[in-house]
Amino acid sequence: MKPIALVTGSSRGIGRAIALRLAEDGYPIAVNYPPIEEEPTQVVEEIKAKGVECKAFVADVSDSEQVSAMFKAIKEHFGQPVGVLVNNAGITRDTLLMRLKESDWDMVLGINLKGTYLCTKAAIRDMLKTGWGRVISVSSVVGTVIGNPGQTNYAASKAGVKGFTMSLANEVGQKGVTVNAVAPGFIETEMTAKLPEEVKNRMLEATALKRFGKPEDIAEVVAFLASEKAGYITGQLIVVDGGLSV
Ligand SMILES: NC(=O)c1ccc[n+]([C@@H]2O[C@H](COP(=O)([O-])OP(=O)(O)OC[C@H]3O[C@@H](n4cnc5c(N)ncnc54)[C@H](O)[C@@H]3O)[C@@H](O)[C@H]2O)c1
Repeated sequence: MKPIALVTGSSRGIGRAIALRLAEDGYPIAVNYPPIEEEPTQVVEEIKAKGVECKAFVADVSDSEQVSAMFKAIKEHFGQPVGVLVNNAGITRDTLLMRLKESDWDMVLGINLKGTYLCTKAAIRDMLKTGWGRVISVSSVVGTVIGNPGQTNYAASKAGVKGFTMSLANEVGQKGVTVNAVAPGFIETEMTAKLPEEVKNRMLEATALKRFGKPEDIAEVVAFLASEKAGYITGQLIVVDGGLSV
């Protein structure tokens, strides 16, 4: 049996595309969604239609008790632990620093960065025991190669994910676990749909390929990093931005 793949925040957008793409490669899929949302039954059905086992697990990734309970439930359901962890869950709360509320700083750092820490910590022990594992986190070009006004909290969280990735890669490499991050540019999802037209036009103009990315553009790279073919890649941040940052 292929290792279990858990994709956090896979009810929609990039996470959903990653879960569907990993299902095509035959991984049994654990979908994750936060308690404020309805269970994403349609996503689960779409994944099952690809011929793999799939179940949705509720947990706010920024809450340690909910994360522990989710990992326990995944192990009980599939009979084996998570082998491929995709830390995708993420949010934005954009505004200029002068107006940025402490609660919006804490929330973005809590989900994007602490969530990555909590889920990875919950997964890593079993990966080390197995002698194989993949941790793939969704960072961003914002915070790792470029800055963006209005996103100090988001940029700090995504820069944190990059540092986390490089450091953990060194801790677990000798046990057969690779740790990488993907840095998307502007991808068409609910997260970017709410941006003003003027910002979107500026982003499009700055993108060398002159198109916005699709969730599938990111999913393809995550599938490669999860595969055996990427076995000699660790500690890296792979930019997938259509040339936005160049
Ligand atoms: N869309 C882009 O242009 C872009 C660019 C760079 C990075 N990213 C990153 O990609 C990831 C996915 O973003 P997206 O564009 O698909 O956004 P999205 O808003 O469409 O999806 C976010 C997902 O995260 C989940 N989520 C939110 N809070 C959660 C929580 N507390 N616990 C568990 N799940 C939670 C949501 O349910 C949803 O499934 C994020 O980490 C985001 O920062 C997106």
